[in-house]
Amino acid sequence: MADQKPAAEIADLLQEDRTFPPPEAFRAQASVRDEAVYARAARDPEGFWAGFASELEWFSPWTSVLDWKPPHARWFVGGTLNASVNCVDRHVRGARRNKAAIIWEGEPGDRRTLTYFDLYRQVSQFANVLTSLGVRRGDRVAIYLPLVPELAIAMLACARIGAIHSVVFGGFSAESLRDRINDAAATLLITADGGWRRGQVVPLKQMADEALKETPSIKNVVIVARLHDSAAPVHVKEGRDHWYHLLMQEASYTCEPERMDAEDMLYILYTSGTTGKPKGIVHTTGGYLVGTYATTKWVFDLKDEDVFWCTADIGWVTGHSYVVYGPLANGATVVMYEGAPDWPQRDRFWEIVERYGVTIFYTAPTAIRAFMRWGTEWPRRRDLSSLRLLGSVGEPINPEAWVWYYRHVGGERCPVVDTWWQTETGSILITPLPGLTTCKPGSATRPFPGISAEIRTDQGETVEVGGGFLVLTRPWPSMLRGIYGDPDRYVTQYWSRWTPDIYFTGDGAKRDRDGFFWLLGRVDDVLNVAGHRIGTMEVESALVDHPRVAEAAVVGRSHEIKGQAVAAFVTLKEGVQGGDVLMSELKDHVVRKIGAIARPDDVIFTADLPKTRSGKIMRRLLRDIAEGKALGDTTTLADPNVIARLKEQYQETGE
Ligand code: PRX
Repeated sequence: MADQKPAAEIADLLQEDRTFPPPEAFRAQASVRDEAVYARAARDPEGFWAGFASELEWFSPWTSVLDWKPPHARWFVGGTLNASVNCVDRHVRGARRNKAAIIWEGEPGDRRTLTYFDLYRQVSQFANVLTSLGVRRGDRVAIYLPLVPELAIAMLACARIGAIHSVVFGGFSAESLRDRINDAAATLLITADGGWRRGQVVPLKQMADEALKETPSIKNVVIVARLHDSAAPVHVKEGRDHWYHLLMQEASYTCEPERMDAEDMLYILYTSGTTGKPKGIVHTTGGYLVGTYATTKWVFDLKDEDVFWCTADIGWVTGHSYVVYGPLANGATVVMYEGAPDWPQRDRFWEIVERYGVTIFYTAPTAIRAFMRWGTEWPRRRDLSSLRLLGSVGEPINPEAWVWYYRHVGGERCPVVDTWWQTETGSILITPLPGLTTCKPGSATRPFPGISAEIRTDQGETVEVGGGFLVLTRPWPSMLRGIYGDPDRYVTQYWSRWTPDIYFTGDGAKRDRDGFFWLLGRVDDVLNVAGHRIGTMEVESALVDHPRVAEAAVVGRSHEIKGQAVAAFVTLKEGVQGGDVLMSELKDHVVRKIGAIARPDDVIFTADLPKTRSGKIMRRLLRDIAEGKALGDTTTLADPNVIARLKEQYQETGE
């Protein structure tokens, strides 16, 4: 376990004493305004969650809300339902039939709107396509697409026939895609000819072809024509590859949904951990849907007339829960935008807000910090008066960014909800309720009703006021049910630090006198770069895979926009010289192995790495060097000169 943030940083953060009560006009119309919801949920958490569950549509009711045999939970035991029915069919039967479900905009400016009825028909059609290609209940389907409506359609179509989707972010490399396909033994891959990012084509099918050389489980590939041959040539392998639009032409509009058990798997989503191998986080149907439905409704104060825009890519859990399942289960209108926020200009997001009258806007601190740097003229150029609520997710938000967002995007009339959660938690767990909570910038405030979070010391003692490890002390419906194919890792990673009923989040946090939580970042070997989780071990494995590298140690350093940046300390094999060429070659190598999100900002060549006498790399010292901080205690170093040399060298080559 790596060490925690220094106490001085915690103290700085807690000097933040500005408070922001809900703006009056917002509060007056908010759905949740009564503090009593917390006490009510705490008294009877199972009853509280069952209340939300009963707002969804079930084929047959559950017999008990929770079966908890730590660390294994089953929620809504015996209940059967279908996620696609809840996200689509039930809206089509009523007044939302022709309401916009998805308003999509491509980066080049192309636009499409799908009503709930459109979505219903296309999901059913694609579900039939999947069945015709041999996909059966319980099979895994890999999805590697740009942010296009077909991504949501594909997920819901899988859910409809009981297939398990595994979405792989389009920014991941061919190798990452291959490993994820193989880990889940997916039988079908859905990809596209390409997508657009900052004016460039992302040639997804070409990358997929690379992956498909070593994915024996894949029987069929479906290709969405996003570019329509305008840029990337596409190789279509006879008998295996099929065009989406051609298959859809043949497919019927009706598809009977499978009756899924509440505990049947809905999806797998890979995320980085403390080893070199990403974990396939498993979410099941009933609890996940209840958690995402409830939090979308309350955290975002969702109303039928809202236009909801979560800017995350669907390749991340934020997109799964707050672009697809949560908002669609609520019958909301969702905005989806394919491309970059600064394309063609730095007001693209605000242009989209203006064009569609977005009312709820949910993004990441890294984006907010970029907006801050670009300046207030960009949001000022556009009419943002439709906005009524702002959200933040993915990493700690610094108070300046919070206040800037509140003022310059929200016009001081929109509450800002800083929402803490994880791929593993499935839905938001620590968050303000916007009509109720007086926010403190930088704090995610309080656990959502029904959620029980605490701060614990290393010894497992509860800290009422002060810092330590953030833990969850009660199961919650949308919790992960396991790690795909690795039941032991589920137990050791999350439930073994203290007793098996205490979930270890991997985050450090502080609780203040008002019971508010201040998230302080990861306490394990996981980095958060621009809101993306990256395991230091993954980057290290990618580096040592290079033929010239002997050893590598990767740490995070602070970065003004991205929050953290990747710094890699590398020792080379005998006789190999470092230099600018090799440096960029190593950076490219990491991109090829993992994806552009993991590209190291710094590569520092060194003759030795600082190690303890037992051979453990001293990451704390490397972090201090990467940050340019004064050195700590080096007495346990096998060779104390190493650090001095490293530091000198870093100062020469680091910036
Ligand atoms: O460290 C926390 C940080 O992101 C981690 C979860 O990453 P991931 O599974 O990729 O999910 C990101 C989107 C939910 C957490 O362990 N994190 C997420 N939200 C916040 C946060 N840190 C501080 N404040 C947040 N609001």
